[in-house]
Amino acid sequence: MMDASRDNFIQRCIEPSCQTTFALNDRIYICSHCGGLLDIELTNHSPGGHALESEWRARLSSTDRWDRSGVWRFRELLPFSADVEIITLKEGNTPLYDAARSAEYCGLNSLQLKHQGLNPTGSFKDTGMTVAITQAKALRSTLAVCASTGNTAASLAAYAARANMPCAILVPAGQVSLAKLAQALDYGARVLEVEGNFDACMQLMLEVADEETIYLVNSINPFRIEGQKTVAAELAEQLSWKVPDHLFVPGGNLGNSSALGKGFRELLSYGLIDRLPRITVVQAEGASPFARFFAQQTSAGSQSVEFVNEEEPTTLASAIKIGAPVSWKKAWRSVQESQGQVITVTEQEIADAKAVIGRDGVGCEPASATTVAGIKKLVASGFVKSDDSVVAVLTGHVLKDTDYVINYHNQTLRSTTDIRSNFRNKPLHVASSRQSLKETLARVRDESGYL
Ligand code: F0G
Repeated sequence: MMDASRDNFIQRCIEPSCQTTFALNDRIYICSHCGGLLDIELTNHSPGGHALESEWRARLSSTDRWDRSGVWRFRELLPFSADVEIITLKEGNTPLYDAARSAEYCGLNSLQLKHQGLNPTGSFKDTGMTVAITQAKALRSTLAVCASTGNTAASLAAYAARANMPCAILVPAGQVSLAKLAQALDYGARVLEVEGNFDACMQLMLEVADEETIYLVNSINPFRIEGQKTVAAELAEQLSWKVPDHLFVPGGNLGNSSALGKGFRELLSYGLIDRLPRITVVQAEGASPFARFFAQQTSAGSQSVEFVNEEEPTTLASAIKIGAPVSWKKAWRSVQESQGQVITVTEQEIADAKAVIGRDGVGCEPASATTVAGIKKLVASGFVKSDDSVVAVLTGHVLKDTDYVINYHNQTLRSTTDIRSNFRNKPLHVASSRQSLKETLARVRDESGYL
């Protein structure tokens, strides 16, 4: 049996002119020489992909706690040895759904939804957090911290609780959905609210992150990315190792698109897949510094363009209300090498796409619906063909933001302009009598057109 070995990994600065390496036990988040982002790199491996494929498959029927996790089942890809104490909630193992209504809405023959919102705390963050908190524990950290628009907070809170480690989360006051806040409180995190937006919270956390005693688990931490990259392996396995033509992912702080790009890149180097899916990142129009960078870079050709943050990001998809994404350079690598795109969608497009995903019986939070809205847009532009194989990554559960859902169906959802509820499902008032209920039920059946 193969197994993981920490000795095979190092941390390396991603800046081509620097590339300084660091040991795995160095508690750093950015390169201490040039300030660049860090990658965790496997230093020696043989292609041996097909042996891995059967090993990973065999683990599906095992009851071992490493194997029950959809992240640690792929442990050969992770920078830990078998003797580490893993902190797991049996994350990953999320379904890939066929979504006929969403496909039709986008103008596709078929569409699949990889529902990362079905992780233990209801978002994709858990696949990264299991690895980050395992590393925190290995480093004997005494306080784990993050800045968050809500989901990272809920996830950290849960995993820190499992690890019996104190944690503190910094959130923008009044800008986080109550469901996410409720989770963090229930799991016992200390919740710190700051006047300001997510970018201000992130900046503040980075300013204190070099304190010896704390451990920062935002996606600037390369161990988070390691966990999230395993989703590429799980997805490829679900597709019998045939990669889709296109993969769509929402973009906020840009950790997830970075991670998926790294995951597929590594699968390719193992010989497990024969090409990369085109990774397209979708941002909300009001919080889209990466899309603007992409557009400028595309028209500038080989000249390099400066990345400009968005000072006042706005969107009702509060999870991705981010103007200064810390991981943009890694996400840019994912998009460039896979020949994807970075695009924006409007608040109206997000709201309608979200309602359509709901009608597939799947549902998701607003940020996740940028994917289906983005696919519709790129089918219309011709970049995606109607018979292409396409996967949208849904990042959060429908119950993460119920205010948004209720407002949409009540026709009271407002951003800077009113949003039309084109797929409205309005509650009906029924008088409290048998006759009234009978008539209403008959009407519901007739209106449905279901034979
Ligand atoms: N979708 C959801 C539901 C999210 O919570 C986030 C980010 C994203 C998409 C964007 O992913 O940042 O990797 O590009 N949420 C972070 C948080 C910022 O604090 O929960 P990204």
